[in-house]
Amino acid sequence: MLKVGVLISGRGSNLQSLIAACAAPGFPAQIVCVIANKVDAKGLDHARSAHIPTLVIPHNAYKNREAFETALEAALEQHEVQLVCLAGFMRLLTQWFTERWRDRLVNIHPSLLPAFPGLHTHQKVIAYGAKLTGCTIHFVRAEMDHGPIILQVAVPVFADDNEEILAARVLQAEHKAYPAALRLIAENRVNVFEERTFITGATASSDLLFNPKA
Ligand code: GRF
Repeated sequence: MLKVGVLISGRGSNLQSLIAACAAPGFPAQIVCVIANKVDAKGLDHARSAHIPTLVIPHNAYKNREAFETALEAALEQHEVQLVCLAGFMRLLTQWFTERWRDRLVNIHPSLLPAFPGLHTHQKVIAYGAKLTGCTIHFVRAEMDHGPIILQVAVPVFADDNEEILAARVLQAEHKAYPAALRLIAENRVNVFEERTFITGATASSDLLFNPKA
């Protein structure tokens, strides 16, 4: 069983999808702690309902990033965490931390990276007129929304979408993608070589997603 720590800042719907996946019989990972950098992170309730230990490490109580990350590190060590999943965690992590957790630190971003990194993703996708977007699970490097891609799911963008509608469609994909990526990692099937991942025994899908339909 891979011991997972999940870091959140807010709503925690991706956390909830990971909790649900881990609860299924035979799932190869377990969430051993959920850490929020905000005391009012709603996602903490999901963890509490599932009887998962929670911790709040408020970043603004520390004098700098290093001090904050040292506290984070101590908590992860205390729970013997082997893999860290960022799930709507809204703090940039320093190179010290991302290197300490190199290839053991995963993030979910609501676009097909490297397109549309950063905040206000869906707004940028709509403004650009992209016809497809999606979500990406990747190993974390110090540069924001950057690092070897583990898994992506494509989602169509429709002409009358607004930010909210598109976000909801992508979120549905996120809730399938994150548990699937976690399973691959926990089954030791994800290997990083020269900053690309190679997945053992993966069935490559050759389905084409046209939008608009050609
Ligand atoms: C998700 O869209 C995720 O991709 C992004 O932040 C959002 C978090 O949502 N990094 P939730 O807190 O998991 O509901």
